[in-house]
Amino acid sequence: MELKLDFTGYVAMCSGGASGMGLLCGQKFAQSGAKVVLCDVNEEAAKAKAQEICDNGGEAIGLGVDVRKFSDIEKAVKTTVEKWGRIDYLINAAGGASSRIFSCKDAWYERDPAIIEWGLDVNLKGAVLFSRGVIGEMIKNKHGVIITFGSVTGEEGSAQCVDYAAAKSAMHGVTKGLAQIGAPHGVRACCVIPGPVLTRPAMANMKTALGRAAEPWELCDFIMYLCDDKQGGFITGSAHLIDGGRLLL
Ligand SMILES: NC(=O)c1ccc[n+]([C@@H]2O[C@H](COP(=O)([O-])OP(=O)(O)OC[C@H]3O[C@@H](n4cnc5c(N)ncnc54)[C@H](O)[C@@H]3O)[C@@H](O)[C@H]2O)c1
Repeated sequence: MELKLDFTGYVAMCSGGASGMGLLCGQKFAQSGAKVVLCDVNEEAAKAKAQEICDNGGEAIGLGVDVRKFSDIEKAVKTTVEKWGRIDYLINAAGGASSRIFSCKDAWYERDPAIIEWGLDVNLKGAVLFSRGVIGEMIKNKHGVIITFGSVTGEEGSAQCVDYAAAKSAMHGVTKGLAQIGAPHGVRACCVIPGPVLTRPAMANMKTALGRAAEPWELCDFIMYLCDDKQGGFITGSAHLIDGGRLLL
């Protein structure tokens, strides 16, 4: 049975919204009636993807936002509230392993500290700052859900990318704190912990008990479930492993 979700009248912001799961969540929100703000450091791609949503009958804008900079986040929040009056959902999808993004082949203990800082800033500071940027609006409207992305790397640890593992395991604490702040005000926070997801073909090489990587929709449909007041309304402060049994191995 396909879930029928209705986000009409609500506004969703997605960081990392120009590609992968941030974008797919934005598309799904739009298909279910929400107004969507795709925020990405790649401003051109965010705007192009937002235009695609509009061309398909949805409502979306794309904004250039570097999640490492609170001034960028503040500007995006201001633009969103001025345009649509509220913020109901934040999907903190911006992120990625610094070792992959900078194609590191060296040992982590010899790595350029600037790359390590990037890993912590985008994956940890970014989610914390963006959540700080929106939660006041959610509290004001007594409605909101913040989603953070962990990773099985944060559960297993990683000798190759300590900063990524650290940032991703920290999403447990970030999510619980946000849930504690939000609970008296109708605001929830949940963490989704993916195993390998086919936003990149190479993820097919990562072993899982089920013998395959996830399709991006397998994560994003669950995120929509968590965001929906009726389906996910009693779920907050929790972390949800969606890893095909990777941690069983
Ligand atoms: N794909 C996987 O297998 C997997 C597994 C575990 C966890 N995750 C996590 O899930 C989330 C989404 O992953 P994905 O594979 O869909 O991502 P993706 O690589 O497809 O997209 C990430 C987006 O973040 C943007 N971004 C990078 N730095 C940014 C910054 N400073 N400010 C704003 N945007 C920035 C990129 O431009 C890109 O559009 C990430 O947090 C990732 O760490 C992914």
